Amino acid sequence: MSEFAKIELDGKFYEFPIIEGTEGEKAIDIRTLRATTGHVTLDSGFGNTGSTFSEITFLNGETGILRYRGYPIEQLAEQSSFQEVAYLLNFGKLPSERELNSFKELINSFSTLHEGEKKIIEAFPTSAHPMGVIGSVVGSLSAYYPEYNLPMLTDEQRRKAIAQLMAQVKSIIPYFYRMTQGLEPVKSKPHMGYAADFLNMMYGSDDYEVNPEVAKALDVLLILHADHEQNCSASTVRLVGSSHANVFASISSGIYALWGQLHGGANQAVLEMLQNIHDNGGDYKKYLEKAKDKNDPFRLMGFGHRVYKNFDPRAKIIKKACDSVLESLGVSDPLLDIARGLEEEALKDPYFVERKLYPNVDFYSGIIYQALGIPTNMFTAMFVLGRLPGWLAQWKEMKEDPNARIGRPRQIYTGANERMYVPIDQR
Ligand code: CMC
Repeated sequence: MSEFAKIELDGKFYEFPIIEGTEGEKAIDIRTLRATTGHVTLDSGFGNTGSTFSEITFLNGETGILRYRGYPIEQLAEQSSFQEVAYLLNFGKLPSERELNSFKELINSFSTLHEGEKKIIEAFPTSAHPMGVIGSVVGSLSAYYPEYNLPMLTDEQRRKAIAQLMAQVKSIIPYFYRMTQGLEPVKSKPHMGYAADFLNMMYGSDDYEVNPEVAKALDVLLILHADHEQNCSASTVRLVGSSHANVFASISSGIYALWGQLHGGANQAVLEMLQNIHDNGGDYKKYLEKAKDKNDPFRLMGFGHRVYKNFDPRAKIIKKACDSVLESLGVSDPLLDIARGLEEEALKDPYFVERKLYPNVDFYSGIIYQALGIPTNMFTAMFVLGRLPGWLAQWKEMKEDPNARIGRPRQIYTGANERMYVPIDQR
């Protein structure tokens, strides 16, 4: 097999090295393409573009594989914990007990919000979308921790920034939630555990006790969302960080990228779609027809994925978790029946089969969040909480790469050629 790809342009041959990843993925290295041939590549949506080397996450969309640092997502979801996974993603190995405890202690030490942060949150109207609030507050952290504004951080500073963001976002979301409910904030009790502390800050009151099964289910959801290689938000984090903008600016940009309905915002959109179908009589087959109609902008939210063309392994685990959470809480949700019906019909419909459209991570997660009492407009904020360690790992890997360059795609200009300016009175 040739180690080079040949391109012929105007009768001249150019060779470009073939690069192979550890899982056998092959790429044509066109880094010298423009300098040698004067051409660029065109790849809208970056469906064929490898933007980086990465050792963090491997996924194979054809076979439905997802691994963090080599460990299958199924094993991590069953046996690991979210903070352990965060350590794994960021530091490349499973921690010893001592390493994990020291990482947890560092996270715990940042659990209290700065008074200024609270004021920023309180300045938002209670009707504000939580994603806008979280993105703003995370961006504002650069004002409180200016030592992280340097273009390059030491290993210790990076470690602290990771722990600090994981702690702070866990406190920011409940602080805003309670404000929208007219409730006093609940102080963080980080030794309860990451997911349990979060739930306690959301719902804590004299008669509230965190249900360990619910905390466990949330922990699993967070693990499933923790990283997904070079998706829209992770690429945004890397792109912003590549300019040497600080870590808070980079993560805040990732939060905004996640907000959109085609990305993390899909979990809110799924629940709204299911509710809408329910409120209109529950005829989900009608909605399948709408999703297939090219003249109708409606899409089946929570279905389809840029990379997964077989099944999304996260969706499989979540579907199972959904059943057990609802059972343990004694909740029966009519939206779950609609979701199951939609899935069943879609999976035998030629439109969805031919396009390899399967339920993705967002299809069933909203039903769990709803059962946990999380308001619909906060679902994407839950995705932020889960994805945070992945964004941080992507940011850290990029900052540690001695060959990293500022992200700067090219374009094919299709506008007007040079023309003369016409003064306004002569137009
Ligand atoms: N409902 C109906 N048709 C769809 C859907 C859908 N959910 N998704 C894709 N299609 C059709 C699309 O119309 C196109 O048809 P045709 O070839 O006839 O033009 C074909 O399938 C390919 O779609 P695409 O838009 O070119 O695919 P993409 O890779 O650019 O987009 C996607 C991927 C996830 C944005 C898209 O499937 C979608 O909009 N899904 C609904 C939103 C959603 O659930 N997003 C969450 C993704 S998972 C969480 C995350 O990691 O962010």
